[in-house]
Amino acid sequence: MGRIVYVNGRYVPESAARVSVFDRGFLMSDAVYEVTAVLDGKLVDFDGHLERLARSLGELDMENPLDSASLLEIHRELVRLNGLDEGLVYLQVTRGVADRDFAYPQDATPTVVLFTQVKSLAESEQAGTGIRVVFVDDLRWGRRDIKTVQLLYPSMSKMEAKSRGADDAWLVQDGFVTEGTSNNAYIVKDDTIITRELSNDILHGITRAAVLRYARERQVRIEERAFTPDEARAADEAFITAASTFVMPVVSIDGATIGDGKPGPVARRLRKIYLEESRKSAV
Ligand code: PDD
Repeated sequence: MGRIVYVNGRYVPESAARVSVFDRGFLMSDAVYEVTAVLDGKLVDFDGHLERLARSLGELDMENPLDSASLLEIHRELVRLNGLDEGLVYLQVTRGVADRDFAYPQDATPTVVLFTQVKSLAESEQAGTGIRVVFVDDLRWGRRDIKTVQLLYPSMSKMEAKSRGADDAWLVQDGFVTEGTSNNAYIVKDDTIITRELSNDILHGITRAAVLRYARERQVRIEERAFTPDEARAADEAFITAASTFVMPVVSIDGATIGDGKPGPVARRLRKIYLEESRKSAV
């Protein structure tokens, strides 16, 4: 792999990209991140990702090291340097380097790292077949609205899903689905889209916001409320959204076949709309 990576103001070959062992991102997961999709070499929903980054940093009393224009410029330069046509840009901001201590350091300089990943987003094979999910207890911390790099429990849940023959897990807390390991979760019943309302229990997905906006503009009924695993098993359709998957149909939930076991019409339509709108608005 010979990518160019951005580290603290420099574009370097990935083999030369380094951060300190004393970085608080490494020692304490004291870091936030964003993942932005790239279509036709352009950034999808970029303003939304910048707004959420600022919010995540603010919730952790972390300084925003770069203004919006600089962040856009760095994303674009990295896409250009790596010749990325379709895929993802990963951005991480940590509180910086300091001697290990539970108290935040007062004078640390944030560490900023960005890299690209090639991924087929528009022509995804999985979007044609749909994915299978299983339920796993949601044992994550209580501030899932902050996009931190504490991803071990989602990673464990993904592995449990795979060991149970599925593609991903839907996390369940107090008898209700919160979200997927790295995506927001939706069911469709009687032509109404049902997805959990925004709170500290879930990440406020940028793709979620865009998809719900496009659906509302087209008079699709939406209920933002928590739904149970039983409701999910009995749904007409289901899907997930994330920058890394766009709208991805779900065809099996905890062993129950959803609809006829193929991607449903609402998910397929929203996927098409999201792709068309994103190509138009990407920057
Ligand atoms: N994950 N919920 C969780 C827990 C997530 O990690 C993500 C995104 C989402 C969807 O958010 P968005 O639509 O803004 O991508 C919801 C990214 C893609 C990741 O960790 O790779």
